[in-house]
Amino acid sequence: MSANLTPVRIGMIGTGGWGTRGHLVAYHRSPYAKIVAACDIDPQNLANAATQFAIEATYSDYRELLEREQLDAVDVSTPNVSHAEISIAAIRRGISVICEKPLGMNRHEARQMAAAAREMGVKTAVNFTYRQVPAARFIREIIQSGEIGEVYHIIATYNQGHLVDPTAPRVWRLHKAMTGTGVLGDLGSHLIDLARHWIGDFQRVQGHLKTFIHERPLPGGGQGAVDVDDAASFLAEFANGATGVFFCTRYAYARANSQRAEIYGTKGGLVYDNERPDEIQFAIGDFMRGQRHYCVMPVPRGIVETRTTNMEQFVEDLAKGLARTATFDDGAACQEVLDAVETSANEGTWSSVPLD
Ligand SMILES: NC(=O)c1ccc[n+]([C@@H]2O[C@H](COP(=O)([O-])OP(=O)(O)OC[C@H]3O[C@@H](n4cnc5c(N)ncnc54)[C@H](O)[C@@H]3O)[C@@H](O)[C@H]2O)c1
Repeated sequence: MSANLTPVRIGMIGTGGWGTRGHLVAYHRSPYAKIVAACDIDPQNLANAATQFAIEATYSDYRELLEREQLDAVDVSTPNVSHAEISIAAIRRGISVICEKPLGMNRHEARQMAAAAREMGVKTAVNFTYRQVPAARFIREIIQSGEIGEVYHIIATYNQGHLVDPTAPRVWRLHKAMTGTGVLGDLGSHLIDLARHWIGDFQRVQGHLKTFIHERPLPGGGQGAVDVDDAASFLAEFANGATGVFFCTRYAYARANSQRAEIYGTKGGLVYDNERPDEIQFAIGDFMRGQRHYCVMPVPRGIVETRTTNMEQFVEDLAKGLARTATFDDGAACQEVLDAVETSANEGTWSSVPLD
């Protein structure tokens, strides 16, 4: 960092699993970030984060943090139900915001968040993690170069397996009032964002949602209802005419975090697998079509060696006046697709994107 750049002062809101393991770790290694304050309603999580990252100011109420601290950016890593309220409060104070996905509980919240940011002219970001996977970046560059021609199809899956265990607890993620949708918003949002990032806007979808286990042990004792989807699938048509098949579940036996996509165009095909982040499979041109063969290609070193996170990219963007990270407009566009899939699954018909 050059001598005249001062670090971005960040207020971290939500110091749970991902806020700590993903976000604070990323800021801690960035020369562009200084974590000046943190907030959590859970005193233990807050104390652990404050100790681990030497954060001096801690708060149990985000409003106090916003009131008292001099901040350039706020990071919202709380459960989905509070993304909109906290983000809009920060935006109204002219503070830049990076928020976790899915952006809101539904399209109405997401639209309000994006509109507030536009109105106040503040920079925003959404942590669509997988945009930063080297293979995902390479796939986007290949598609944009025109090497695979016009895209006909995308087949994208995202499989985790932790709910196969019937004793896995009924955490907030499985409770509609806290999360909005289930695996659709949690994992499906990443697939939707990647597809938008690679191919373009969705036009219509037809969804199917399924819940396998309807009751699970609550972390504090007793049983709680699971009232969101455990598995989600949907067909899609894109504005450019491409078609897509999407599937995500938390019931994929022995899968930790398996995300995969195949993309087929008029002149070539590509395969992405986040468990092999530094390579892709490809078949491009008449020769390889004749061979009916996909070759493994390492992702170019220039992409692999610049691997970063959205958190690090966002603070660097703020420090340098750049705009590379997914914005609240991207988060809201993703939410339009989530709502359309949910409506379509409930009504058993195709739904247009946006719904209204
Ligand atoms: N981008 C990704 O790859 C990715 C991965 C995991 C989680 N996430 C997202 O991150 C967010 C948090 O998920 P998590 O797994 O860290 O959950 P978590 O339950 O581990 O942590 C959430 C934390 O927020 C705190 N909290 C709740 N309400 C609050 C409030 N009003 N003010 C301050 N703190 C509050 C909780 O006490 C907890 O410490 C979710 O939106 C989730 O979808 C994204």
